[in-house]
Amino acid sequence: MTDLNTTYLGLPLRSPLVASAGPVTGNPALWQRLQAAGAGAIVLPSLFEEEIEHDAFAVGFAEDHGADMFGEALSFLPKLDQPAVGPGRYLALVEQAREQLEIPVIASLNGTTPGGWVRYAKHLADAGAHAIELNVYDIVADTRITAAEIERRYVELVEEVKAEISVPLAVKLGPWFTAFGNLAVKLQQAGADGLVLFNRLYQPDIDLDTLDVVPRLTLSTSVETRLPLHWIANLHGQVGCSLAASSGVHDGADALKLLLAGADVVMTTSALLLHGPEHLVAMERFIRQWMVDRDYDSVNELRGSVSRGNVPDPQIYERANYYRVIHSWTDIVHR
Ligand SMILES: Cc1cc2nc3c(=O)[nH]c(=O)nc-3n(C[C@H](O)[C@H](O)[C@H](O)COP(=O)(O)O)c2cc1C
Repeated sequence: MTDLNTTYLGLPLRSPLVASAGPVTGNPALWQRLQAAGAGAIVLPSLFEEEIEHDAFAVGFAEDHGADMFGEALSFLPKLDQPAVGPGRYLALVEQAREQLEIPVIASLNGTTPGGWVRYAKHLADAGAHAIELNVYDIVADTRITAAEIERRYVELVEEVKAEISVPLAVKLGPWFTAFGNLAVKLQQAGADGLVLFNRLYQPDIDLDTLDVVPRLTLSTSVETRLPLHWIANLHGQVGCSLAASSGVHDGADALKLLLAGADVVMTTSALLLHGPEHLVAMERFIRQWMVDRDYDSVNELRGSVSRGNVPDPQIYERANYYRVIHSWTDIVHR
């Protein structure tokens, strides 16, 4: 039997397939199905800095962002006759998840600024969260703020959250940093036990009839795994913390590639919205069969074997690859 055990944030998981934050993990009615389908852990949807500070912040991410765009997804959402979130309700959600599940439950905090609100991390840990994921989703539109300032703020934020908790801390980020590798190391040194690469940037659109700016949440596609794959392959063995892949994981093949690049766990949200919790069964089956076909006994054995440090030509993950890829099209056109 192939061994899928992995360790993430110091937590032993039975599988590297993790249900990432989103409406599916936010619906208690689906938790047992996620666990039965083989999820190694679940990450609850985020509690927002603004909610903690104002308590009566807008309803949930799912409601705001029109989850009814995805037919079947509707049935996965919690009923929103009253706000699905808010600090009190969130704590209750964490407690409920702990009671109902055997797999680790990771609570998620979304915020960008150091401050009093980070004390809430301790309440989440006290409510039973096995770990905290700090989701730093930020759009820095103020042209006076420098990249260095922002990075310093994130490092400070991680230090502050870490100081509040005794459970492990993961930090989830977007990919849009000038020197991501350096930031990754700084966050790890500030106390991050793991990095979740990456959050997706939700870009609004303009309606040409009404000239309204409209929120558009498009689910990911497999091609988006390339960005986390690239960075995980580069960072594997270079940062002393866990690496989780998030974005574009839709099937077992996507997951395998990210494990080969060096991910400790592979997270999925869009695929669960599209196909339901049982999709994890098919993903796991594919991974197991692939491992059997190639004589891998365990995920630990294959992890990182195609990372930057383990390929014959590490430049494939650097600028040289850009040159090659661009010129491959020139050759085709001139043939
Ligand atoms: C409807 C929806 C709600 C989400 N809510 C959260 C959230 O509350 N916190 C968070 O960190 N990420 C949230 N995400 C982002 C996902 O956790 C994930 O990082 C992202 O969708 C990329 O993974 P995927 O390609 O598997 O969807 C949400 C995504 C979707 C589609």
